[in-house]
Amino acid sequence: MEGNRSRRAGRFDAAASLAARALPNALTPWIEQARLDATMIIDRTSGKTPAPLVDDIEAPPPLSEVDPLNVLPRGIADKVRAVRRDVQMLRDRLILGKNPPPVIERPRGAAGAVVSLPRKTPNMTRPVKVVRVVRETNDAVSIYLTEADGSALEFQPGQFLSVDVTIDGERLRRAYSLASACLPDVPVHVTVKRIEDGRVSNHLNDTIQEGDELSVLGPSGNFTVEPREVNERHLVMIAGGSGITPIMSILETVLRLEAGSRVTLIYGNRGWDDVIFRDRLASLSDEFQGRLLVDHVLERPPESWSEGTGLLSGDVLEARLETLGIEDDGLIRYFVCGPTPMMEAAHEALQRRGVDANRIAEERFTSPEARSGDVGSDKIELVVISQAGHDHGIQVEPGQTILEAALAAGIDMPFSCAMGGCGACRVRRAEGEVQMAEPNCLSRAEREQGYVLTCVGRPLMQSKIEVEGV
Ligand code: FES
Repeated sequence: MEGNRSRRAGRFDAAASLAARALPNALTPWIEQARLDATMIIDRTSGKTPAPLVDDIEAPPPLSEVDPLNVLPRGIADKVRAVRRDVQMLRDRLILGKNPPPVIERPRGAAGAVVSLPRKTPNMTRPVKVVRVVRETNDAVSIYLTEADGSALEFQPGQFLSVDVTIDGERLRRAYSLASACLPDVPVHVTVKRIEDGRVSNHLNDTIQEGDELSVLGPSGNFTVEPREVNERHLVMIAGGSGITPIMSILETVLRLEAGSRVTLIYGNRGWDDVIFRDRLASLSDEFQGRLLVDHVLERPPESWSEGTGLLSGDVLEARLETLGIEDDGLIRYFVCGPTPMMEAAHEALQRRGVDANRIAEERFTSPEARSGDVGSDKIELVVISQAGHDHGIQVEPGQTILEAALAAGIDMPFSCAMGGCGACRVRRAEGEVQMAEPNCLSRAEREQGYVLTCVGRPLMQSKIEVEGV
């Protein structure tokens, strides 16, 4: 608006604007006239001849559009404007309950749902570098990773990364646990076991090479411990197959950081050659004699096998606990990770021994390839998503998950694996009914508390869910 009008005129406009705001409205026409007269005088004294028909002389802006802060030097005025903007935003949000308009345009969903700015960017993948690849067994490969700039990946023992790959043009995401000890200078790796018909696990086992780049998200997950030097505890860990990966990270971290703690691991596999981390477990057993007891249970043991045999069922687990002389003293913490039937059996066996559910930590990873068919309503259902004190209404089409519908509507939802395997999208169902594809990683206790996973959850009727921890 300033155009070629002089800076002095601009200041005079601002002073007039300030006066118009401070004095009674009845005086505004007088102030306006005085400003126009003064502007002519200013222009004349600065050598301009303001004739009404000269095109290159701009008319002064209406007084209502002049910012009175222009009366101040520019640097100070800018600072005062910033403070004024912040105060207005706070007033809008706290007193009037209005959200500021988005600075970034986001697509409006088909259902015309409320569009809000992302509160964080948890769903953004990032590239990491593959610095080493180690074949652990015929069916499992460890992939050592650093951040793209070569720095170490940070995580907590037991957490996982969600790996995003594109296979035959289709983008797929799977969760893999970080299996390394969580210690400075220890190289960080995920270990990926082939799953029959598992597209990503087979792809990674067959193709991954040192120097490759992977797209990941995370680390995430609550199946973890907080090691403390002063701890003196007994952890009993029960793993089946690739369920060893998060357990390995917790086990080694605890042994190295908590000199007064001990670990018993009961580890089920099909055969001796299927045992992931066989050598690493043997050398840790040597190093931590008296503090680490590893008990292998094999379905197809080699000749002269003296440890556990059979599928790691509830009965077999109870027998192993008896043989190892493990009495539950009410303080032991149990960590269970493996195939769903094994986990169910372990949970029941532990409860039969009187172990309270809150001392049993469980991590379930499921593959979409092993999941039951489509569920949910055959008509469009309304779902209200309650998040950070705001309700967003969305429409979920038949066949769509709640997560898909919410993301399409521009709502920033927590998620990671998008396949029911990690629990990152867990929300509480407040009303209605949500059906989930099974199996998924939600524990029995979580289901009883009313939690559902939006990435595999579809509404059966009008429902309301609450996103926690926002
Ligand atoms: S995003 Fe992992 S379970 Fe839903």
